[in-house]
Amino acid sequence: MGRLDGKVAVITGGAGDIGKAAGERFANEGANVLLVDVDAEALAAVCQEMDNAYIASFTADVTRAEDNLAMIAEATRRFGGVDIFLANAGIEGSVTPITECDEADFDQVIAVNVKGPFLGLKAAIPAMMARGGGSIIISSSVAGVRGSANASPYSTSKHAVIGLMKSAAKEVAAHKIRVNTVNPAPVESRMMRSLEEGLAPGLADQVKAVMQSNIPLGHYATPQDIANVMLFLASDDAAFVTGSVQMVDGGMMA
Ligand SMILES: NC(=O)c1ccc[n+]([C@@H]2O[C@H](COP(=O)([O-])OP(=O)(O)OC[C@H]3O[C@@H](n4cnc5c(N)ncnc54)[C@H](O)[C@@H]3O)[C@@H](O)[C@H]2O)c1
Repeated sequence: MGRLDGKVAVITGGAGDIGKAAGERFANEGANVLLVDVDAEALAAVCQEMDNAYIASFTADVTRAEDNLAMIAEATRRFGGVDIFLANAGIEGSVTPITECDEADFDQVIAVNVKGPFLGLKAAIPAMMARGGGSIIISSSVAGVRGSANASPYSTSKHAVIGLMKSAAKEVAAHKIRVNTVNPAPVESRMMRSLEEGLAPGLADQVKAVMQSNIPLGHYATPQDIANVMLFLASDDAAFVTGSVQMVDGGMMA
């Protein structure tokens, strides 16, 4: 018996470190998973590597309304509906102070990290209503509950999705749809390597050491640590959990 037997999950950012780990975890618990990403090549490589009969893929850009509708339609066509939606696609943007940040960079981070989840919820909620309920999880961050110097578009976007999550949780509770955010501390991932390098070019290892010293458990999370909490929120074990900000941060925000 898997914890997600008979469920259908759609995961955006499915070719990335966290999306891939969540896809594998959900599939191993019995869910049919549609991994969605804008990077078709990376998505194909991830699916080939996982070689899991429960996992299918779909190329879509979360900033486009029609792509969000298409990914939900694809999950419904393939698997009969949608029970779990993980709005996880995200970009870090450039690491610069506000005074040097390009307006276009700000717009792009907000488009992917905020408008993406908004359009995803708009597409997924009717499908979940048709199923009689579901679970929506949005990837926020520790940067969603405190400021991050030199990463203001990213931090702004991760705060914004908490507002989206809380509003949606109230709107859809009567339809038995739960909505929560997962807020990781730094994860062993491509994104953190990029941020470390951006914060101090050539000194990424030192940046990582400082970051880790701010985490009481003493190290970065693994993508699997994050996927485990996403699984909890996706499953019926979290039947009374909605509107919550789930920190997965090794105590960083304590
Ligand atoms: N890595 C961390 O340390 C960390 C910490 C806290 C929160 N997060 C958040 O978790 C989520 C996943 O992060 P990750 O580490 O797996 O990052 P990642 O860069 O490995 O994966 C993100 C994926 O999103 C995809 N993507 C980007 N723009 C897209 C678009 N317009 N449409 C569809 N897909 C798009 C990318 O192609 C990529 O595969 C992000 O929202 C991130 O902000 C990550």
